[in-house]
Amino acid sequence: MILKPSMRSQVLPMPVVLISTVSKDGVRNAAPWGCIMPILRPLDEIAIASWLKRDTLENIRDTGEFVVNVPTVDMAEAVDICAKSFPPEVDEFEEAGLVPRPSAKVAPSGIEGCVAWMECVLVEEILREKFSLVIGRVVHLEGNDAFFDERGGMDFEKARPMSMILGPEGGCYTRPTTGG
Ligand SMILES: Cc1cc2nc3c(=O)[nH]c(=O)nc-3n(C[C@H](O)[C@H](O)[C@H](O)COP(=O)(O)O)c2cc1C
Repeated sequence: MILKPSMRSQVLPMPVVLISTVSKDGVRNAAPWGCIMPILRPLDEIAIASWLKRDTLENIRDTGEFVVNVPTVDMAEAVDICAKSFPPEVDEFEEAGLVPRPSAKVAPSGIEGCVAWMECVLVEEILREKFSLVIGRVVHLEGNDAFFDERGGMDFEKARPMSMILGPEGGCYTRPTTGG
């Protein structure tokens, strides 16, 4: 069957992460993000795509720092709360009941209970008419000890990191399982 080009997100499953930032006034922010990718393994940069009206984008521009938190599927409710359009002065950690976790190398807090935390600094913004591509460098990557073995391997059946598939009726959260 022929699909509309905009349906590409259905055939390319996306990760779901929570990007945490802090505003120049010190307000904590967290927002779900699907359009995120590593730029060629094993390099240390990532790219995220952002619509222009996003507190997350403003905060990254103002502070140059952000944390990519990988939530478990059990955090879906908090993810949905963070997807709401709160004004910039609202602390979204409080709204969604997220527990902050001190970061090692950047000012924004991570989110407790996540599978992993990717602390990033802004490298470059590629501004287009309707959206922006933000390139960040991962300066600190940490996995939750509850889900990783000593070699850094993730038990993903236990961790249940969130991902999603977008269909005609909207998004559906998914998680990896062993195939076969
Ligand atoms: C699962 C999911 C994935 C999302 N992915 C993106 C994305 O890749 N880029 C984007 O600009 N907005 C994305 N959004 C929408 C933002 O999370 C939403 O507009 C949020 O309110 C933005 O918050 P902020 O203004 O505090 O940054 C996504 C929402 C959900 C629920």
